[in-house]
Amino acid sequence: MAAAAALKTPPTIETFGVVGAGLMASQLGLLFADKLRIPVLLSDLSSERISAAMHRIHAHLDTQERRGRIQKGEAAEIAGLIRGTTDLSGFRNCDAVIEAVFEDHAVKRSVFKQLEEYVAPDALLLTNTSSLSVTGMARGLKQPERVLGFHFFNPVAVLPLVELVRTAFSSDAAFTSACNLAQDLGKTAIPVADAPGFVVNRLLTRLFSEILAEIDKGGDPVAVDRSLESWGLPMTPLQLIGYIGPTVQRHISETLHRAYPDRFARSASLGAVAAAGLHGFFDEDGKVLPAALIPPPEPHEVDQNRIQLRLRGALAQEAQLILDGGVVASWDDIDRCMILGANFPPGGLTRLLRI
Ligand SMILES: NC(=O)c1ccc[n+]([C@@H]2O[C@H](COP(=O)([O-])OP(=O)(O)OC[C@H]3O[C@@H](n4cnc5c(N)ncnc54)[C@H](O)[C@@H]3O)[C@@H](O)[C@H]2O)c1
Repeated sequence: MAAAAALKTPPTIETFGVVGAGLMASQLGLLFADKLRIPVLLSDLSSERISAAMHRIHAHLDTQERRGRIQKGEAAEIAGLIRGTTDLSGFRNCDAVIEAVFEDHAVKRSVFKQLEEYVAPDALLLTNTSSLSVTGMARGLKQPERVLGFHFFNPVAVLPLVELVRTAFSSDAAFTSACNLAQDLGKTAIPVADAPGFVVNRLLTRLFSEILAEIDKGGDPVAVDRSLESWGLPMTPLQLIGYIGPTVQRHISETLHRAYPDRFARSASLGAVAAAGLHGFFDEDGKVLPAALIPPPEPHEVDQNRIQLRLRGALAQEAQLILDGGVVASWDDIDRCMILGANFPPGGLTRLLRI
């Protein structure tokens, strides 16, 4: 691929770079190798983290092959495409790089600044941020026009949505390239404006914020968590926070609290779970972990109907504000985002607000 000019035409992606080798990055590396069948380079801060990611990838591929979901021999073929490094200079041959490092603006900016030193001028730079300003990450780079938000959802192999975030700097070539990439990966790209939490995490975090406020006020976590059971969501709110990772969710909640402090409260219980390094609120038997139980100020009966009613009002308000702010154009877009990115049942948010 020609490396002389800045990104004017969509580049052909022949080698993919992934910065970070954590929960999301390892799934992304696997997806790119599987769907695009091109070499993928994963980087992280330590070789231990890279080895752990490689281990997860190999274990997943072996299971897929054993269950007949991929052909015999394919596990080795796909795994053979993925290499790890702790040295970003190894990214010089990558035509596209996605970062999936900690949800921290300064860390992500520094990764992009370093990448610019190595990658070709026509390489695409993508961020998997869940909530942070993509414009802020692009600003000050030598070539901000090639930076886009390309936000996948966990589990990456299952959830088809990519929130595609274009900034005022982004070029048409970068946007077209990202649209083509989403299609090649079998994903549905929905363009969203560069607003905190975009669509899915803004709505999920509003939901978490309301649920956690009930727990922080002394409501029994198990009863509060079960109050939305009749909505048919794929997981309870606390289970979902465990799945996303309490530390990542705390970062997302912080971003939304900073942007909209009146509607997104800080949660003492989420803070305690994240600070204790726990993977969630519950132990293996479904009992609430003591570290998640901040001293209840006023233990009280949990009124699940009241919580449902309150949640409906909160989500209706947040969705309307998303539309008023032009993050997406229609209720249909919001529903598609929630179905494809958060596995909401058919009908999406609209149906939940009506039942
Ligand atoms: N967890 C989810 O469900 C989810 C879903 C969608 C998007 N995201 C986003 O993906 C990103 C990563 O989240 P995660 O859950 O995979 O986190 P994680 O903590 O599992 O992984 C982050 C990895 O980044 C590495 N890292 C940090 N700084 C680095 C640097 N300078 N260079 C190289 N590697 C570095 C860390 O060592 C760690 O292995 C975040 O932006 C998050 O918001 C997360």
